[in-house]
Amino acid sequence: MSLSELMSPISDDMKAVDAVIRARLDSDVVLIRTIGEYIVGAGGKRMRPAMLLLVANALGYQGSTHHLLAAVVEFIHTATLLHDDVVDESDLRRGRSTANAMFGNAASVLVGDYLYSRSFEMMVESDSMQAMSVLSAATTVIAEGEVLQLLNVHDPEVSLDRYLQVVRYKTAKLFEAAAQVGAIVAGASDAQQAAAATYGRHIGTAFQLIDDVLDYTGDAVALGKNVGDDLREGKPTLPLIRVMEVGTQDQRQLVQDAIRQGEGDFIAVAQAIHDTDALGFTRAAAVAEAELARQALTGFPASAHQEMLLSFCSFAVERDR
Ligand code: IPE
Ligand code: IPE
Ligand code: MG
Ligand code: MG
Repeated sequence: MSLSELMSPISDDMKAVDAVIRARLDSDVVLIRTIGEYIVGAGGKRMRPAMLLLVANALGYQGSTHHLLAAVVEFIHTATLLHDDVVDESDLRRGRSTANAMFGNAASVLVGDYLYSRSFEMMVESDSMQAMSVLSAATTVIAEGEVLQLLNVHDPEVSLDRYLQVVRYKTAKLFEAAAQVGAIVAGASDAQQAAAATYGRHIGTAFQLIDDVLDYTGDAVALGKNVGDDLREGKPTLPLIRVMEVGTQDQRQLVQDAIRQGEGDFIAVAQAIHDTDALGFTRAAAVAEAELARQALTGFPASAHQEMLLSFCSFAVERDR
């Protein structure tokens, strides 16, 4: 199912979220508007806000506070991207030069900070202490995840557990929070809130595992970002961890050197990844996570929204963008 099909039951809601996002990017400081509109105007899949809306609707929500909270989630996500592209020294995002490439690192970091602050202001307006608590805690965990990842770079000793911790923190946590807040705003039971959180955590994990696959196999035009960045930076993601686990001594050495030095020989490493089926292994791990996400939704009432939440599980794994 295409992304626009996935969004079809919530297209009006997504328009309302977009309006909130545009309105809240407004600032008297022109550079903030320029950079904010630059990255937001480039699009993005908007998966996290969509998930929040779908969960809220699936659980019977009728009001409009979910639009505000969905915009908060997208702002937090956008802030992490602005910061992440500085740290990763990336130069392509959403099919455009990154903000850091266009406006410099300092401006990107500061506008990322602005988006975080703005999102906190908006959270307070939601007047939901529970939503605030979940979103603010998630923001802390994301920052911890990015710092943990920084410590893992150039370290070939990184284990599967350390890698998965980074994935859960930097990426899955925001999906978890988005889904959970959807349940909170709908006034759902504790059990349904927990189920929504579990759904988000697993789908977010699947999403990042596939992101790490696409960094080796993806198409830069479809993805809107460069492939090969992870190897260039010496990031020990699951495809490389798998080669080191099951590869020959030579393959292990090749990958260890590539992680230590960065700028690894992409062709040789890609061959080792291919020969050990490390991408198949990573994909299988993502499929298992998506299945756990699916199972978490079994207690939700049947509806078009619930069906779309299930379809998101397939999309997270099958996506090429
Ligand atoms: C990119 O997230 C960062 C990761 C967690 C891999 P998305 O792939 O959702 O980015 P956009 O918003 O669609 O550009
Ligand atoms: C996800 O990690 C980053 C965040 C959750 C902020 P990546 O570094 O793999 O994301 P991309 O590939 O740059 O989008
Ligand atoms: Mg990155
Ligand atoms: Mg990536």
